[in-house]
Amino acid sequence: MNVKLAPSILSADFSNIADAITSLEQSEADWIHVDVMDGSFVPPITFGAQMVAAIRPLTNKPLDCHLMIEHPETQIEMFRSAGADRITVHVEACPHLHRVLQLIRESGLKAGVAINPATPVIAVREVLELVDLILVMTVNPGWGGQPFIEETLRKVSEARTIAPNHFIQVDGGIDLSTAPRVVAVGANVLVAGSYTFSGDPIERLSVLRRILCESSAS
Ligand code: DX5
Ligand code: ZN
Repeated sequence: MNVKLAPSILSADFSNIADAITSLEQSEADWIHVDVMDGSFVPPITFGAQMVAAIRPLTNKPLDCHLMIEHPETQIEMFRSAGADRITVHVEACPHLHRVLQLIRESGLKAGVAINPATPVIAVREVLELVDLILVMTVNPGWGGQPFIEETLRKVSEARTIAPNHFIQVDGGIDLSTAPRVVAVGANVLVAGSYTFSGDPIERLSVLRRILCESSAS
């Protein structure tokens, strides 16, 4: 299975974000994961569409925007015009999930749907035709550097079963030991924040790619 690497800039040095993007541009990254937090759906506030506009000229890689925000429908046009390629919204933040996903699609962007660790996979069943990606959170959203929640492995496998042709993305606690395990049960898009930025991102992602190749060959 062709696994995509989506490093998260949440763990980058915010005072030098251009350097981080330039490194990722030269790395094994397939997508760049942008963690948007609003201080309401999750306690921290990170950044929004203006950050996407700032980094868009620095990379050709798809910008994968993970919106951990309430009322994401109010932001879609701003993210589109800023240069986002993909928008993923949370089931838990969207009482009108179907409509929000339709809006993302109609705006010409790829749509994804995310579930927190306590949310069952079945919560996305009725919207599978509106998305090409299910994000199974493998930590509770809000912070980088948290430990991987083991129980989410079963959910990754369930997501793969109900959506054999979708991207199954995992986000939280992904490193050299958890990455092969999530891939083995069906994940094919790996977000990695603290792993990527706790050293040289180019080298870290190349090691991650190598470990995945070795584990798929064995
Ligand atoms: C957490 C974010 C993640 C975060 C993951 O709420 O959605 O994308 O960057 O960080 P690590 O890889 O450090 O667990
Ligand atoms: Zn994320």
